[in-house]
Amino acid sequence: MKRFENKVILVTGAGSGIGRASAVRLAAEGGKVWCTDINEKELKTLVDEIETAGGTAFAYRFDISEVGAAERCVEDCVGQFGGLDAVVNMAGILRFSNCHELGLDIWEQVIAVNLTGTFMLCKAVLPELLKSKGNIVNAASTASLQGLPWGVAYAASKGGVLSMTRSIAVEYAKRGVRANCVCPGDINTNMAQGVTFPADADFDLLSRITSLTGAKGPEVVAGVIAMLASDDGCHITGEHIRVDGGILA
Ligand SMILES: NC(=O)c1ccc[n+]([C@@H]2O[C@H](COP(=O)([O-])OP(=O)(O)OC[C@H]3O[C@@H](n4cnc5c(N)ncnc54)[C@H](O)[C@@H]3O)[C@@H](O)[C@H]2O)c1
Repeated sequence: MKRFENKVILVTGAGSGIGRASAVRLAAEGGKVWCTDINEKELKTLVDEIETAGGTAFAYRFDISEVGAAERCVEDCVGQFGGLDAVVNMAGILRFSNCHELGLDIWEQVIAVNLTGTFMLCKAVLPELLKSKGNIVNAASTASLQGLPWGVAYAASKGGVLSMTRSIAVEYAKRGVRANCVCPGDINTNMAQGVTFPADADFDLLSRITSLTGAKGPEVVAGVIAMLASDDGCHITGEHIRVDGGILA
């Protein structure tokens, strides 16, 4: 399939996990991929991999939580690739702690990256997407839909991403711009591997974040993202699709 020929897609969090797998998939389908992350080393490896496979990609350092950086990122992407058709917004962080022990600094960091960062990028890309009749795919989570033990800040941020995405979908639908979310769960990435639980964690609660089918790799989410971002998703907006192996079935 070459659903993204002559299309430009901006991917955040492209240095790892679902963002990386999405960049590879979108490039394999003919898209020009503007790969962004704070991890420049991983971005370079990714772009080398895409170019070696015959695709087109550009590595661009972008901290989604930095005020003003989103406008620069969009401007540079459009300057280099000539437009912008879709945004796949996967940058995110997860911090686990008992709620009563969670520092305000960690709460603010998680909200700044996952929620405010997603908002700032959506705001910056919308003028371009109005021109291209493009679309946004944001990273929500099963935590947007159910309580997440030890993850109050993360769940609050992801609930916000889902609400924000639906609001954008409604506000811009008649002007030809779509906005959707994926809600991954139990995807084996650096994020999942880096989790540390509180010392007194009640592991009975782990079933809430464990899939029925076993963890899967990030490419299973990338395939759904590619569908949503492509014309195959042309009648889908304001939707969230769980890719969670049945956690919330
Ligand atoms: N892995 C899962 O099971 C799962 C479940 C639900 C939701 N998600 C969401 O999917 C998205 C991708 O997660 P993943 O599992 O691939 O994680 P990951 O840790 O493998 O990748 C996240 C990427 O985001 C980047 N990043 C972090 N802070 C950033 C910032 N300030 N600016 C720009 N980039 C930044 C990291 O460098 C990293 O490359 C995240 O938003 C995550 O919350 C993942």
